[in-house]
Amino acid sequence: MSTTSTTSALSAPGAPGALAPAPRPVLAGIPAYVPKPPAPPAEGPSHRLFLNENPYPPLPSVRETIARAAAQTNHYPTIHPERLMDALARRLDVPPGHLVTGPGSVGIYQQIGQAMLEPGDEVVYAWPSFEAYPIVARMAGAVPVEVPLVDGVHDLDAMAAAITPRTRAVFLCEPNNPTGTAVGTAELKRFLDRVPGDVLVVLDEAYFEFSRSPNASDGVELHHDRPNLLTLRTFSKAYGLAGLRVGYGVAQPAIAGALRKCAVPCGVGRIAEEAALTALRVRAELFERVERIVAERERTREALLGLGWEVLPSEANFLWLPAGEASESVAEEWERRGLLVRAFPRSGLRVTVGSPEVNDLLITAAAQTAPPSR
Ligand SMILES: Cc1ncc(COP(=O)(O)O)c(C=O)c1O
Repeated sequence: MSTTSTTSALSAPGAPGALAPAPRPVLAGIPAYVPKPPAPPAEGPSHRLFLNENPYPPLPSVRETIARAAAQTNHYPTIHPERLMDALARRLDVPPGHLVTGPGSVGIYQQIGQAMLEPGDEVVYAWPSFEAYPIVARMAGAVPVEVPLVDGVHDLDAMAAAITPRTRAVFLCEPNNPTGTAVGTAELKRFLDRVPGDVLVVLDEAYFEFSRSPNASDGVELHHDRPNLLTLRTFSKAYGLAGLRVGYGVAQPAIAGALRKCAVPCGVGRIAEEAALTALRVRAELFERVERIVAERERTREALLGLGWEVLPSEANFLWLPAGEASESVAEEWERRGLLVRAFPRSGLRVTVGSPEVNDLLITAAAQTAPPSR
């Protein structure tokens, strides 16, 4: 029997006035995560400098691991990637119960939303900062409280002043995406001392390994005597595994355990876990590449400064050019040359540090584009 003959006109899909499942109203106010990827040129090569990816492909040892693990994808991974958690615990010298993992550190943000935020709670973070923050807060029905950066740097006094009895969490990106700046450990500790104990501080150290400041903070170190601190790190950047989605967090057991309860079961796949384990083993080799990226960051920044561009000091694998009103037009010009950078309208350009050859192309493009007048 045909189903259409028994379906009433009102509930037939597509019929005028048909009922439809409504997404939660809160979703209407949530922006898309990456609004518009840059457009590659019609001809010629293009270079991805818009997602702060590692420019180097996986090492042969990591590729071999991936190929081996691929042969077992008929099996489920474990609920949590326990072998990886044990290896991380040894490397970081923390008990395994202090660890939480997720499909990228953005996955852990979703766990934070589920485990820690109630509708109406306030979440304080700087702006501009990582674009996932307003999404995570809004998705949980929480109220984002954005505190403007000052000269591209977190204004920790203003952030402390923005904490109210309704504040449930603070997100702090160190070094900050998109500006690359860092507040350093002394300032950070002073701030943490001012945050009430019942407010969760999420210290987002996605770019930790690129920091060379003698005053660089280390959230794993700091978490030992701070029960309200959660530090997030990732295999996506320094370890070059963005495509496999592995992130981790370190916090005392009450927070880490709550977040593990909200993890998607088997959310870190077997291939991802094995690749991350190998990446940890060959860390020294991988970190030679990190050194190269850091050296290229400094070389590129010096060259751009020499050409008259304003470029903030960076502790991450990207540079921030506060080009103001010119940001979008400069990005479009560079896109035509195959350099796909990220423009923040009327604010600035975020440019990932690439290979030396690609950085040379960027420097050439910058030399042939008039820097915005200051
Ligand atoms: C500050 C910050 N946190 C987290 C992430 C997400 O990283 P993952 O790939 O681990 O989800 C990014 C990615 O760009 C980031 O910039």
